[in-house]
Amino acid sequence: MTEQFSRKAEAWSARFSEPMSALLKRYTASVSFDQRLAFVDIEGSLAHAEMLHHVGILSHDDHAAIVGGMGRIRHEIESGGFKWSIDLEDVHLNIERRLTELVGDAGKRLHTARSRNDQVATDMRLWLRGAVDLLRKRLAAVQTSLLDLADGHAETILPGFTHMQVAQPVTFGHHLLAYVEMFARDDERFADCRKRINRLPLGAAALAGTSFPIDRERVAKTMGFDEVCHNSLDAVSDRDFAIEFASAASLAMMHISRLSEELVLWMSPRFGFIDIADRFCTGSSIMPQKKNPDAAELARGKTGRVYGDLMGLLTLMKGQPLTYNKDNQEDKEPLFDAADTLDDTLAIFAEMIAGITVKPDAMRAAALEGFATATDLADYLVKKGLPFRDAHEAVAHAVRVCADRGVDLSDLKLAELRAAVGPAGDVITDDVHAALTLEGSVASRSHVGGTAPLRVRDEIALHRMRLRER
Ligand code: ARG
Repeated sequence: MTEQFSRKAEAWSARFSEPMSALLKRYTASVSFDQRLAFVDIEGSLAHAEMLHHVGILSHDDHAAIVGGMGRIRHEIESGGFKWSIDLEDVHLNIERRLTELVGDAGKRLHTARSRNDQVATDMRLWLRGAVDLLRKRLAAVQTSLLDLADGHAETILPGFTHMQVAQPVTFGHHLLAYVEMFARDDERFADCRKRINRLPLGAAALAGTSFPIDRERVAKTMGFDEVCHNSLDAVSDRDFAIEFASAASLAMMHISRLSEELVLWMSPRFGFIDIADRFCTGSSIMPQKKNPDAAELARGKTGRVYGDLMGLLTLMKGQPLTYNKDNQEDKEPLFDAADTLDDTLAIFAEMIAGITVKPDAMRAAALEGFATATDLADYLVKKGLPFRDAHEAVAHAVRVCADRGVDLSDLKLAELRAAVGPAGDVITDDVHAALTLEGSVASRSHVGGTAPLRVRDEIALHRMRLRER
């Protein structure tokens, strides 16, 4: 940092008798990271100035000068020509100082009936509202990719796992729809959290409100806030909306991480269920044969990073007395990081999922190992009158016989199956084989929430409709 000590450059010179320590200046400055609030800061200032003019606090000429000056500043920032200075600490003071350079006293009047405390709280909410809207679009894109893939594989069968052991056959479409459901709930959470983000702190001023006859409803309306915050002390100090966002972002990343883990497993040659397009994989610098699903692994890793952002924000807030404390300046980096990480991750996943090649033969072969239809045989016996617990025992016995002989239940001829099941096997007739096939097993689960291809198609249509309405 080459900036000079100079109280002249700072916004509160008169109170102090010596320059600020260079170390403290660097420590307290936030401009390096809060400059990304510049456009929402300008938006908030313009809405504030318009209201000040409307209620007669700011003259027509001053208001016009502020509008003109802010237009120019916006352009300077967009073109990279704006000079950010750490002497001016943060985005708010940098912009205000430049405005005053450009338009004189009108610039100095802008801060009437306002404080950086309600200003920054407003900026954060405006910024986060935009981030939420973008992330909801990103979630929808991931869901659409999953739905497209599910559409092509409503009938493709793979083993469903519990405890990472083959459990029962499921359709791949159904499996993918599980994630569509998770991301739908993530979207609900973001939509809900947006309601509490979208309340206007401006007017709270430093903490106690202002003696000027301001019109807060007008400012809220100008910027599309649903309502104003009803307690000035709360408005400038709490960041629960940011914590709520980071929590929703953490849950979305948790879902991404679970999907990542499955993609990694499925792509491993041991499973060989899918292939991920080359453009989303990397090679090894030493092992020429390698093709690694790095994007999925990195997303799994970055999930921890977003949890860290959440923990940082929670810890930042705890123990803060009312009202604003400088601690709150530390809300920005974790919040930006959580939003950026989720944004990039979802953008990549939408494309990566669209580029997945499915290998139905490998999935089917895996479903045929591990007695995936044993439950279907038990259900069959129950339908013939056996109590479920007895059926369970009898089938367990049959599975042991098959395991010893290295065959599947469906490989047994009727007489062999009856013998393997034991005395209870007497009720088994020829129709059993329909129940023991993979297709029969999945088709029979056609209730709401079941894995049947028919049901998968219905659910896909439902989700597509909800996405259109969103
Ligand atoms: N840069 C500050 C922040 O991010 C702005 C508010 C500063 N207010 C104050 N009283 N020092 O929190």
